[in-house]
Amino acid sequence: MSNPPAGKKVAVADTHLNVIEQGKGRPLLLVHGFPLDHSMWAGQISELSSDFRVIAPDLRGLGLSEVTTGTVTMQRYADDLAELLTALDVKEPVIFCGLSMGGYIAWQFVARHRAKLAALIVADSRAVADAEKAAAGRKETADKVEKEGTKVVADAMLPKLFPAREIERGAAFVKATEAVMLASPPAGVAAALRGMAARPDFTSELPKIDIPTLIICGEEDAIAPAAEMKGIAEAIPGGKFVNIAGAGHMSPLEKPAEFNAAIRSFLKS
Ligand code: MLT
Repeated sequence: MSNPPAGKKVAVADTHLNVIEQGKGRPLLLVHGFPLDHSMWAGQISELSSDFRVIAPDLRGLGLSEVTTGTVTMQRYADDLAELLTALDVKEPVIFCGLSMGGYIAWQFVARHRAKLAALIVADSRAVADAEKAAAGRKETADKVEKEGTKVVADAMLPKLFPAREIERGAAFVKATEAVMLASPPAGVAAALRGMAARPDFTSELPKIDIPTLIICGEEDAIAPAAEMKGIAEAIPGGKFVNIAGAGHMSPLEKPAEFNAAIRSFLKS
């Protein structure tokens, strides 16, 4: 992972977000997954900023952004991002690219801030809500993280984020991702877990999406299966689907060249 540039603090709603902004051109908003930060987009920030105004925030409570305790809903994160665009004086509708939890937030952004969108890219994510048991498990984990720290989440997530062979060979991006998870603020991680447990099911809304949409999935994704993501693309009018061979859940980090090429080709079409 190359090092992204240092962030700046931007006042948004009742908090401050840490935000990376690089390049000029059409605005491209990169929204990270859980429990991560903007650094998962290093391979996109460095390459795509030659043609786009890349904006990569740390979500509320994660990375270097200020923490909100309790629960942060996907709707709250979406509203933060809409306010961030206003704070950065972004007047043009944006290309919104979200991975996993960033995808859950993307659905809420479509529902609440459609006028701010030019195109949508959702990577390695799902449209369904959590089943009851999964939601209960997330709430239990949230309480545990508040008491014991984020190691419990890092240990549980790592084998799901990457194919086993990448973990076994000690890939640099695996180690960097683990370090981000361990450094994440426990209260912010717990709040995101509770927010994901409460997220609405977006499946029935997919056919109503009326902006160009690209769905990208690592073919070995263990959290958001490629077949399910292909179904999401098929449910969205004109939705396109790209499968990234040899990647797991963190497709932009594992295969940046392929991921960036998919974005460039979609935005040219
Ligand atoms: C993510 O990568 O954001 C998480 O895997 C999402 C989730 O836990 O559902």
